[in-house]
Amino acid sequence: MLPAPVLVGVALVVLALVAAGFYVHDRLNRRLAWGAALWLGLTLGYLRSGDLPVLLNRLPSDPLARAAVQAYDTVWWVALAWLAVAALNFILWRWLFPGARQPGGRKLIADLVSVLVYVAAFFAILAFAFDQEISGVLATSGVVAIVIGLALQTSLGEIVSGLFMSVEAPYRAGDWITIDDTVEGQVLETNWRATRIRTWAGDIRIVPNSVIARAQIVNHYFPDPHHTPIVDVTIDARTPPDRAMAVLLSAALAAPCVRHDTPPRVIIRTLGQTTIDYRVEFVIDDFAEARAARSDVASRIWLHLAWAGIRMDGPPLASPANAESEAERSAALEKALTRVSLFEPLSFDERSTLAGRFKTHKVAAGSTLVSQGDGGDSMFLISEGVLVVRKHRADGTDTDVTRLGPGEFFGEMSLLTGEPRSATVAALTDVCVHELAKDDLSPIMAARPVLASALARVLATRQMALAAAGKAIIHPPETCESYAERISAWITTFFRSAA
Ligand code: CMP
Repeated sequence: MLPAPVLVGVALVVLALVAAGFYVHDRLNRRLAWGAALWLGLTLGYLRSGDLPVLLNRLPSDPLARAAVQAYDTVWWVALAWLAVAALNFILWRWLFPGARQPGGRKLIADLVSVLVYVAAFFAILAFAFDQEISGVLATSGVVAIVIGLALQTSLGEIVSGLFMSVEAPYRAGDWITIDDTVEGQVLETNWRATRIRTWAGDIRIVPNSVIARAQIVNHYFPDPHHTPIVDVTIDARTPPDRAMAVLLSAALAAPCVRHDTPPRVIIRTLGQTTIDYRVEFVIDDFAEARAARSDVASRIWLHLAWAGIRMDGPPLASPANAESEAERSAALEKALTRVSLFEPLSFDERSTLAGRFKTHKVAAGSTLVSQGDGGDSMFLISEGVLVVRKHRADGTDTDVTRLGPGEFFGEMSLLTGEPRSATVAALTDVCVHELAKDDLSPIMAARPVLASALARVLATRQMALAAAGKAIIHPPETCESYAERISAWITTFFRSAA
């Protein structure tokens, strides 16, 4: 029997540890505190009786007392195993590998540690609590282990590979990876045997850990998910490279998925006699968007090249931006207007009349074309370059709302409704725009009043699409019809007042 102060001291420690466990939110620390409390509490029972039968194998001869002692000993060993597992986990994840990234791998090692410790506790219980000779049991279990080991040879290889991988942690759930340039997908989970990956096609691919351990792995999400996709384009060599490169660059800049802090790049890959191979490189936020981003940039490249008159298999054509005469420009614009949604309601004759009225401006990068709040009675059609629509907010900040490129127009809200400019529009690259003034549109509107509602419908549809994308500057009412009616009334009033 130990002196009372020692017993009281141990009891206080136990109570303190239990209490601490309630206040600790961290799972590892809590398990450690409670494991220590449980084990110390049970040990206190031995200290009180002044005996340590658990270690000394002093079992009473009375069957009831013997069973009670054996039960107590068993619980004591299990508590010790629990404490050992908690302590080993603490040492592993707090001290040795505090930055282990892969939860699946951590679980794998933690499971292995628990199994080993509890197996050891099992043998200790047999030996000390039940007074069994365990060398025989160990020998039998050795044979069993060999048989099981042979049967599970392949799986054990996977487990060992899994262990190595969990220490190296080349990826974690959620990461996009490429394995040996053949399998590409997002990691769903890693376990003892394999890694599950969802491929681009949406299939689940289960790759054994031993294959991954031998493979080259590209982790597209580490250290960040940014990615640099490329689009290769071949263009007829009769287009001067500097012009082709400027148009390709603005196509990449116009895509919303392209990051703006690292500007896109265009390089010449091969210079041939008849064609030149260009490569467009751009940075996006997330590898998961790479395919969509490549497709978006490729289709913008097609559009920008078409507006610039640049062809992949022939000499450049006259375009609204580079026509050599006014007649050539007007013909190019007339053709181009058929592709602009706003002018769809116009007849062929109305479009060709209008094409001759546009005034062409070439504007350097950085210039502002319209300023928010100003009055305005003209709109602009873009045929080359990229512009940014910027909104000045009430709190004094400027927000980039969207980017505009060839075939798109701006300034139509003020032209058609007489309202002040709703945003500022500035050139991000050198641009070519074609200005249409209210006085040029008025005769056409006066000759065909029904145009007001047709144009209003196009405008309302555009604003509804912007609103759906969370980008509308003027918030439209619930339905496109009611909004179109409202805009149509504005247009009619505005042009009547101009007449
Ligand atoms: P206006 O109001 O005349 O002048 C600013 C122009 O910016 C506006 O016409 C539209 O053409 C354009 N604009 C405003 N908001 C957006 C938006 N969310 N998306 C695209 N263009 C816009």
